[in-house]
Amino acid sequence: MTKLTRLRGFQDQFGAEVELLSLVEARAREVARRYGFSEIRIPLLERIQLYERSTGETSDVVAKQMYVVKHAQEGGTADAMVLRPEGTPGVVRAYIEAGFDRSDPEQRFFYCGPMLRYERPQKGRFRQFHQFGVEVFGRADPASDVELLVMIDDLGQDLGLELDFEVNSLGCTQCRPAFREALLAFGRAHLASLCADCHARLERNPLRILDCKNDVALAEQAPKSIDYLCPDCRRHFDTVLDLLRSTEVTVSVNPRIVRGLDYYVRTTFEVTSRALGAQNAVAAGGRYDGLVETLGGAPVPGTGFAIGLERLVIAKTGSSSGSPTAGESLSRSQFAAIAASGRHAPLIDAAVIALGDQALTKAVALARKMRHDGLAVHLVSPARGLKAQLRRADHIGARFALILGEDELSRGVATLRDMTAGTQRDVSLEQAAKAVSAPTAGS
Ligand code: HAM
Repeated sequence: MTKLTRLRGFQDQFGAEVELLSLVEARAREVARRYGFSEIRIPLLERIQLYERSTGETSDVVAKQMYVVKHAQEGGTADAMVLRPEGTPGVVRAYIEAGFDRSDPEQRFFYCGPMLRYERPQKGRFRQFHQFGVEVFGRADPASDVELLVMIDDLGQDLGLELDFEVNSLGCTQCRPAFREALLAFGRAHLASLCADCHARLERNPLRILDCKNDVALAEQAPKSIDYLCPDCRRHFDTVLDLLRSTEVTVSVNPRIVRGLDYYVRTTFEVTSRALGAQNAVAAGGRYDGLVETLGGAPVPGTGFAIGLERLVIAKTGSSSGSPTAGESLSRSQFAAIAASGRHAPLIDAAVIALGDQALTKAVALARKMRHDGLAVHLVSPARGLKAQLRRADHIGARFALILGEDELSRGVATLRDMTAGTQRDVSLEQAAKAVSAPTAGS
């Protein structure tokens, strides 16, 4: 029989790991709120054509990495559906479908959730990973590109991460044809050095040869998009760089940032962390004017980025070894504490121990009341005796045990045991929550 293990490249995430991801997500949400983004939730499943027409048929994502799904009953006859490999196409589709492109084009959305790509798994690269992304619609100005980089920098600072920013401009429909021709000529002249994939891509989308991992040196010599920019694109890019100089974000121009997805025009960028290995991109994005129109909407410009949450956590935990020092941000010390804990369960304030049926009735009510007071309370399985229940309370790391036996019931109290100090005292049932919350509770 097949052993039911998880699929390669997929992860089960427990306790502390999930807490770290949630913490990073919470920080990203807070930054997005400050930048005026509202949340959008889009489906996991979309029609295959959505990605073919946006991400692009020559992109690795569409050509090799999509999880194509069909309905069990409709079988092969139904239009193929895809588990989303990225968020941008779905957000653009939703934006058009809701009619924003015509009624109220300027919109700012953020999204967060799992994405799926059939990639070769390695450290920091998974087949299911989580992205936090933002999309800005209706803004063609360079400042809207710059604000995205500043926003990523804010999140990096908030998390205490050192990030490197690289930008490029890919030009627009006006200047791209000349660049494309130059690349095509270059590719044809170097056919012998190109890999099999690039041979196939060259005529359809010569930009892809710049992504070729087989011959990086060749890509270095290839024509650069910034040398082919039309006056409007040149002005846009110069303003992006000027505005960035006035911020504290240090960026370098890298003509190799062509991005693996087809919809980009003008500004593109990648953000990396030196705390990561080969998969060092924590965020990436750029401008996609024309995509709304390509997908059937009005000609509305767009720009955005997505962050890989797992990569942020790896960068963060990898670089935060040692205990945090005074003055470091709260999130940094929280991170270190959570990462060091290796916890697979939440911290428990009190374990409630009931001895006997009558006590159990009281215990259920007491536990609930304490939870209403904001405490994490665990009702220990009453099937065992006092000793075994105390061992359980100790095992789950409860700070206190509240014991309810016949004797306690008759006196209307519970025994409050400090699990670390081993000291005990009586507390009234009404005062139990307060006693557990107080710093000197057990003494
Ligand atoms: P992307 O560069 O494909 O762009 O992905 C963005 C980020 O997602 C990467 O920088 C990385 O941190 C993370 N990521 C991608 N693939 C994996 C993986 N296999 N395992 C772990 N993390 C991964 C996009 O997806 C665009 N939709 C970004 C965008 C939004 N452009 C405009 N708006």
